[in-house]
Amino acid sequence: MATEEEQLQYFVQKVDKAEKDIERLQSELSALSNPKQLIEEGMASPELEKLRSENQKLQYQRNLLNKYLSEEEKRVRNCALDIRGIIEDVFASAIYAAFPELPNPVVLVVPSAKFADYQCNSAMSISQQRSAVTGTKSNPREVAQLILDHLPETKFFEKVEIAGPGFINIWLDKDFVSSEVTFLLTHGVTPPNVQKKRVVIDFSSPNIAKEMHVGHLRSTIIGESLSRLLEWVGHDVLRINHLGDWGTQFGMLIAHLVDKFPNLLEERPPITDLQAFYKESKVRFDEDEAFKRRAYDCVVKLQAFDPFHYKAWRIIYDISMEVNNEVYKRLEVTLKDRGESFYQERMVKLVKELKEQGITEMDEHGRTVMFVPGFNVPLMITKSDGGFTYDTSDMACIKQRLQEENADWLVYVVGNEQNIHLETVYEAARRLGWADKAKHRIQHVGFGSVLGEDKKKFKSRSGDTVRLRELLDEGIRRVEARLQETERDKDLSPEELEKVKESVAYGCIKYADLSHNRTHDYIFSYDKMLDDRGNTAAYLLYANTRIRSIARSAQVTPEQLSAAAKTMNVDLEHPAEYKLAKCILRYAEVIVRALDDLFLHSVCDYLYELTTTFTEFYDKCYCIEKDKTTGAILKVNMSRLLLCEATALVIAKCFHILGIKALDRM
Ligand code: ARG
Repeated sequence: MATEEEQLQYFVQKVDKAEKDIERLQSELSALSNPKQLIEEGMASPELEKLRSENQKLQYQRNLLNKYLSEEEKRVRNCALDIRGIIEDVFASAIYAAFPELPNPVVLVVPSAKFADYQCNSAMSISQQRSAVTGTKSNPREVAQLILDHLPETKFFEKVEIAGPGFINIWLDKDFVSSEVTFLLTHGVTPPNVQKKRVVIDFSSPNIAKEMHVGHLRSTIIGESLSRLLEWVGHDVLRINHLGDWGTQFGMLIAHLVDKFPNLLEERPPITDLQAFYKESKVRFDEDEAFKRRAYDCVVKLQAFDPFHYKAWRIIYDISMEVNNEVYKRLEVTLKDRGESFYQERMVKLVKELKEQGITEMDEHGRTVMFVPGFNVPLMITKSDGGFTYDTSDMACIKQRLQEENADWLVYVVGNEQNIHLETVYEAARRLGWADKAKHRIQHVGFGSVLGEDKKKFKSRSGDTVRLRELLDEGIRRVEARLQETERDKDLSPEELEKVKESVAYGCIKYADLSHNRTHDYIFSYDKMLDDRGNTAAYLLYANTRIRSIARSAQVTPEQLSAAAKTMNVDLEHPAEYKLAKCILRYAEVIVRALDDLFLHSVCDYLYELTTTFTEFYDKCYCIEKDKTTGAILKVNMSRLLLCEATALVIAKCFHILGIKALDRM
């Protein structure tokens, strides 16, 4: 098999040749004195057309080869190959060359589980498009054949074949796969090459003085994983906790705090249950007119940063954040707290600016509103008393992220129900010239509600919102009970037991969330998430400990493994070996796609598939042969151990992204 250098050389030569050919054709083209006239006169037309289309094809070929060249360079630069992306490119080049008359031919390549490794499904739509654009009737099989006729020669495929009504089945080249596995073993699980961006991701973002609810839990889990994903591929990521810490409710909370704990500055008020405190003050606010007036007065003073009121606010903030931080710590989530209060001065300035620009109007209730084209409901810039709203803070916030943070990618991990609000803010930012569609990527990563097993909104037994602390405690309790049931607790040391409980409980809660399509509602069920037989973290954790124990039980050291990776080829003769190798390599394309749509369930699906594919391999292929009676090791299959190792490395990377902590024993 060709060395990396030889392959690179091969591409360089091909690009050189394509460039020379293009030059020659272009000079021939221009030598035809007046092509347009010649065509009109019907003279040189066929020759010219031929040159033209040949030129076009060569251009595609050159672009493609240049891309391969950079793919090869990436290897030198330590990047994984997005194999599906490469196949898509190869087929795109063939399709463009075969159908230069079609403006945007469909290029569709998908992994194929049953018949081949990948499948190009473009022929059906192209044949329709072709008859619509040019009137040429051709059946999809003919179209598929034309695609194949234009397929450039590459080292990636063993064969390509037309099947059924016009599918093109694609089989990867085994040597290529084997060398990529070696690349992974010698370079580690490297991220695919992506253009680096400055990303601000807004997630978790609970409201102060109210208990974080399961919706915030979803945002926290999804946001943390997305941040890890983005960081891993090299983006510069700022994780922001956009706390609801500045609304009118703080007036009522401060007024109540002052009444209950008059010496609050000397002695920290012993509030343990902020939720109850919130409820008490709300009752007073609703029932007592005088209290209500004082509450309003407190808001005004707070928003003017009056020292006493600011201190009182800070007390409530700190008590609330202590509870939240405990949840973050347990789930290993990191965030920079930057709530709505951060934007106070910016909001003052912004409102002034917007009014001066004349893009706001006063509605019939005396509120300042701003209509955004395409949206029926305007943004409320100020209330009738001049106070700011959720809309005001989000406008100041998006401006800050674009102009002060210089972000080129904004991600908001917020429930589906806030979609219109966010889209209105995004569009307003574009209309105001802060954001540019071509330069800035702004994305609402929405998610559905968490439901109880009765398919109704997830509530605690008393009907209250579920406290996250209690939810995590319950997870730990259930894992504990299971460990006792199976008597696993007897084999593990107390420290190991602690680790197992946390890793399984939190891993399962996170994974249950991440493995569902985030846009759908999902049913919270401890029984389902802790089941170790399905697509759950419990199953994956268990399977992973098994994989990691294989090398141990073969008594092969990590040094021996890495030496083997450098010196021997990974043998892929057995179908189960080959299947596993191809599955291992798919991680890069899964990541590339997740970066595009920010859906993490595809990463979970992949991880599950990798684990089950591994199990299939392990059942069929002996890695270690032991003497049945003495248990002595007779033979170790090093190449297979390398496959185990590669699997373990990819699983570890996925675990990291999904926030699951691997265990040595469980
Ligand atoms: N605090 C809000 C809530 O609980 C979520 C904030 C989301 N982020 C934002 N920039 N609007 O609903």
